[in-house]
Amino acid sequence: MGDNPLKLKKVHHVEFWVGNARQAAFFYRNGFGFSQTAYRGLETGERSATSYVLTQGKANFVLTTPMNPAHPASEHIRKHGDGVKDIAFHVENADQAYEIATRRGAKGAVEPRDLSDEHGSVRYAAIHTYGDTIHSLISYKDYSGPFLPGFVSAPIAGDDAGILRIDHIVGNVELGQMEHWADFYSKVCGFHRYISFDDKDISTEYSALMSIVMSDDSKSVKFPINEPAPGRRKSQIDEYLESYGGAGVQHIALLCKDELATVGKLTRNGIPFLRVPDAYYDVLRDRVGNIDESIDAIRDLGILVDRDEEGYLLQIFSQPVEDRPTVFFEIIQRKGSRGFGKGNFKALFESIELEQARRGNL
Ligand code: FE2
Repeated sequence: MGDNPLKLKKVHHVEFWVGNARQAAFFYRNGFGFSQTAYRGLETGERSATSYVLTQGKANFVLTTPMNPAHPASEHIRKHGDGVKDIAFHVENADQAYEIATRRGAKGAVEPRDLSDEHGSVRYAAIHTYGDTIHSLISYKDYSGPFLPGFVSAPIAGDDAGILRIDHIVGNVELGQMEHWADFYSKVCGFHRYISFDDKDISTEYSALMSIVMSDDSKSVKFPINEPAPGRRKSQIDEYLESYGGAGVQHIALLCKDELATVGKLTRNGIPFLRVPDAYYDVLRDRVGNIDESIDAIRDLGILVDRDEEGYLLQIFSQPVEDRPTVFFEIIQRKGSRGFGKGNFKALFESIELEQARRGNL
């Protein structure tokens, strides 16, 4: 179909609003293997907020903390805790993208404007998506600096963990809102419904969820949207919505080239991952057939495997990366499969529910 009304090129960066960006930067460098590349704060003349830019492969994170209670990030953190504020898109023309997005029904957040410094300018605008999350729209004019205007180069090399780029970013929305937001990505961004999962695919004894995966035609940007489905107990999506104070980003999946190497490194770095019961591995070979990796090595690290018609994938999920049980990460390697690990949902959600019960939230 080739429908890309916003002329979206890729995810430019993901911005987190956090209580302590300096410590968060340390966590993503030493835990996930990101390198710091740029900085904006008091020393650069920015007095209202401080931001660190972290990069690994093609994945860019911006960690921003407010410097005073009047900055909008202060209220955001009070309400949500640390979380994703912005999934920023690199577009061909920010003015046109903003005009088309708002004409197609998106709520404007920031009208188009120049952001400039001595390295040149970009055009910048933003639209709202679910919850308090926004999509910045960024297009380049003549900018040649380290990240975006206002930032200075501030390199601190991390120990690269083999992460290549963002694979998908999942949003949790309130009961009854999934269709609305799927329509939003279809109407505003021209995305297509790629896969849907319902409560028959994703349910355990206690809880269920429904999910629609929205994707652009190139499949370079994939946005699954989850909503809770009624279950016997509080679902993991309900726990998120309660803890985050509404809709927001649930997890970011990071694509890697060698799951065993990346997960091994992150585990040694102290990143805690969810574990499924050992019985999962007793039946793994029967379920997914032959794979290149040793089942023992996969079992040791707690990696999950799923296969579909096109191939297989390796995946693992971190524990939430803040104290509120909200945002977490997935580390995924694709060997042909373009799916999301449907065969793992049951085992995985049962292990999430064990954690939920330990938190007193089931
Ligand atoms: Fe995922």
